[in-house]
Amino acid sequence: KLSGTTTIIVLGASGDLAKKKTYPALFGLYRNGFLPEGTSIIGYSRTKLNSTEFHARITGHMKILNDEIKNQLSEFLKLCTYVSGQYDKDEDYQKLDKAVEKAESLNIHEERNRVFYMALPPSVFVPVAKGLKKNVYSKKGINRLIVEKPFGMDLESSRELGRALAPLWKEEETYRIDHYLGKEMVKNLLIIRFANVFFGAIWNRQSIANVQITFKEKIGTEGRGGYFDEFGIIRDVMQNHLLQILSIFAMERPLSLSAEDVRDEKVRVLRCIPPVKLEDSILGQYTRSEDDDSKIGYLEDKTVPAGSTCPTFAACTLWVNNERWEGVPFILKCGKALNEQKTKIRVQFQDVPGNVFKDAPRNELVIRVQPNEAVYMKMTNKLPGLSMDTVISELDLSYNRRFSDLKIPDAYEALILDVLKGDHSNFVRDDELDAAWKIFTPLLHKIDNEKIAPQPYAYGTRGPPGIEEFVSKYGFKRPTQEYNWPEHKI
Ligand code: BG6
Repeated sequence: KLSGTTTIIVLGASGDLAKKKTYPALFGLYRNGFLPEGTSIIGYSRTKLNSTEFHARITGHMKILNDEIKNQLSEFLKLCTYVSGQYDKDEDYQKLDKAVEKAESLNIHEERNRVFYMALPPSVFVPVAKGLKKNVYSKKGINRLIVEKPFGMDLESSRELGRALAPLWKEEETYRIDHYLGKEMVKNLLIIRFANVFFGAIWNRQSIANVQITFKEKIGTEGRGGYFDEFGIIRDVMQNHLLQILSIFAMERPLSLSAEDVRDEKVRVLRCIPPVKLEDSILGQYTRSEDDDSKIGYLEDKTVPAGSTCPTFAACTLWVNNERWEGVPFILKCGKALNEQKTKIRVQFQDVPGNVFKDAPRNELVIRVQPNEAVYMKMTNKLPGLSMDTVISELDLSYNRRFSDLKIPDAYEALILDVLKGDHSNFVRDDELDAAWKIFTPLLHKIDNEKIAPQPYAYGTRGPPGIEEFVSKYGFKRPTQEYNWPEHKI
């Protein structure tokens, strides 16, 4: 843990990410007593704002449920100051440095640690990293730099970014955020797999027929179509969030839980995955809703360039060519403007062998990342009664029942706390990023260069019509009996 004085400097403090995620997370940490004593938080960005305006901006997304929180918030805001300046001017960074020094001087500690959070567009990553290193870097303590995606557009641009940042910031000082790694259920994957003998024993090609990792969002790209169009859903969600889930799901047991041991295994498994092929993919783009006129199609969004072929939905099948997984399809699916909001992993097991229960439906294990975290196993059971009829039932761990009195921390809170502790386990290492880009770059280039036309799907539906056929092509079998998991909603 950081000892001494800590200053957190949020670059891009007037932007969307800072407002929606960074400051609410910092407030969450403050409320729960996780910010080191005497912490100051200084926002920096180009917009000129006085402190009232700035405070109004960063509190817009905070949930003030009662008076206690309201009081805590006014105490928290006393820690939050703001400096405006350009991203390419040394003198502005020197002004920021003065503000940091002033905050530090309120404490008696000799050690002065600085955590820089870059909530910025990628175009200014390098100038800001340079400006900070040259002008604001602490000479009397630890410096840490948090970087948000996108880390490049493909393998080459990601390496270029890496080459520009590496001489300035050491790998051990750099924390590349993939906020999915801060999600409770993603963190739980390691424990589910390696702390349960029965899961450990069936986690392989002998027992598992296919794995689907699905991310669905109900909203489209409203308002951020311009940004999104440059990237598309594969860069926005699949190459990072879903691949991270896959790598923890599929990796071998790490030697220990240390950050480097865990990340070594993640990189190793990523290196067993050949580049995704277009034949193993299906792309979609949403059109206007069929029954709600307010839900316009992607191309109707004014911020989207006319005729864009940018995919807002993608399903890609990846293959992990190692002893454990050869032949098991990992189907990654993600999309915007779909029928529901959900992220989950669905593991489908092999058919029941032998002829006694030949037609029994396949077992499935579902790990629901959000909303309403849950782990449940679909199993075949005797239908209670006088016959030997079977019925699909479930072994169910629903967090809202089992852990009803525990709060699930926000991903960003968990990750910022990790940075304060100096724990890299849940951050993306440089070679891991490289391995991830290698898997997707050829496909992305093909999509971009050949302007591969995505299949249309209406806003609010399950995605392009071909999706059912796509997953069954990889051996996914729908159950022979009707089954609905009895979700326990609160
Ligand atoms: C972000 C993507 O990384 O993740 C967004 O850029 C997406 O497009 C978001 O909506 C999803 O995060 P969460 O935590 O809401 O599932």
